[in-house]
Amino acid sequence: MLSTMINNVFPKTNITEDQKKQFNSELIDTNFIRSRNLSILLLFVITVLLFTDYLNHNKGLLEGDVGYRLLFYSHLFHVIAILLAFLSGISFDSNKSGGKQRFVTVFSYLTLIGSTIVSTADQYMNGQITVFVLVSFLFAIINYQKLMFNMVMYTISYTIFIIGITYAQTNPNILRGHYINGTVIVILVVFLSRILYYAKVKDFSSRKTIEQQNSKLEKTNQELSLANKELYESLLALDESQNIIFTLTLTLESKDTNTHGHSERVAKYAMAIAKHLGLDNRDRVNLWRAAILHDIGKISIPDAILNKPSSLSEDEWAIMKSHPERGAEICSKLKFAREILPIIRYHHERYDGNGYPEGLKDEAIPFLARIVSIADTVDAMTSPRSYRSQPRTMEQAIEELKRCSGTQFDPALVETFIEVYG
Ligand SMILES: [Fe+2]
Repeated sequence: MLSTMINNVFPKTNITEDQKKQFNSELIDTNFIRSRNLSILLLFVITVLLFTDYLNHNKGLLEGDVGYRLLFYSHLFHVIAILLAFLSGISFDSNKSGGKQRFVTVFSYLTLIGSTIVSTADQYMNGQITVFVLVSFLFAIINYQKLMFNMVMYTISYTIFIIGITYAQTNPNILRGHYINGTVIVILVVFLSRILYYAKVKDFSSRKTIEQQNSKLEKTNQELSLANKELYESLLALDESQNIIFTLTLTLESKDTNTHGHSERVAKYAMAIAKHLGLDNRDRVNLWRAAILHDIGKISIPDAILNKPSSLSEDEWAIMKSHPERGAEICSKLKFAREILPIIRYHHERYDGNGYPEGLKDEAIPFLARIVSIADTVDAMTSPRSYRSQPRTMEQAIEELKRCSGTQFDPALVETFIEVYG
């Protein structure tokens, strides 16, 4: 429990369990490489020191002086420590984290303990604790370890250090100084190693945050690219749809001798009304498409009825009146035209309910269909037709609109038309 509390170094970060494992693995690798290089260097230095021990032995210093003897033992201890570290790391699974961590642990613990023996030996000669201080700082700097690891390591070495110098140092003043210095040094190195470890954690967290943000950015970019592609395809499809509209309209107008340019003029009137009313873009697009296509059902009306110069019989008129429904039926096959089907279907409904095909009344007639109705009638009145000698003027057409306001047409829309064209 205590260990978990002490070693939980990611309390406020959004680092996942996998990332924590990655962090630990990276640290173990770093620690291992540094400790391995240091151990090789140390092995070389100790080999030289063992040679000086041999010279001291020849001079008889080893036998005569406990300090030199202890120094020799400490060198032997260091060699054994390094060999043990290699054995513990390599003999099991050196390629995996377990072996590397064992190597680092054995090497750090034993080398630091070895430095306490050196400092103890030094009490018999120079009275210094320099080696213990240096090695303590060295491991605080080269190792990124959790607090528990360092606390145990420094507690063990500190205890041995205190026992060693107490036993070896006979001058109480120097001993007191070593107690104070050794204690302060150990506290300092524990703090230092903690600070360095946290800096590493922070660095890792920042790196992961940046990676996550980059990943999110990349994802957003991909989504944007996809959206752009879809938009481009939609635009192409729209372009194609509009081509279909014009083709269908042209086909119709080539059949009906009375309606050349009719659809475009109806669209023009409808758009003028839409602009005056401030309709939104979607309504305008739908209105324009419906205005162009409103009579498309006439394409399936026999030419003999469509272009008959005289009045239609009752049966012929019934067929003629079916064109709004036929138009809606034709356009129902076009995906882009789904929203305009009611406008095509009801563009011959009357405001008083006497229109066709369903006799819808007032507001029951779709709003855009009421606009098409007015635009359609105005153009029918003001364009040349084979069954009458002269088209009406706009003034006459407006008079007719006024006369039929509230019966055939939506009075509010008649007002709007007059405001635009009156
Ligand atoms: Fe019509």
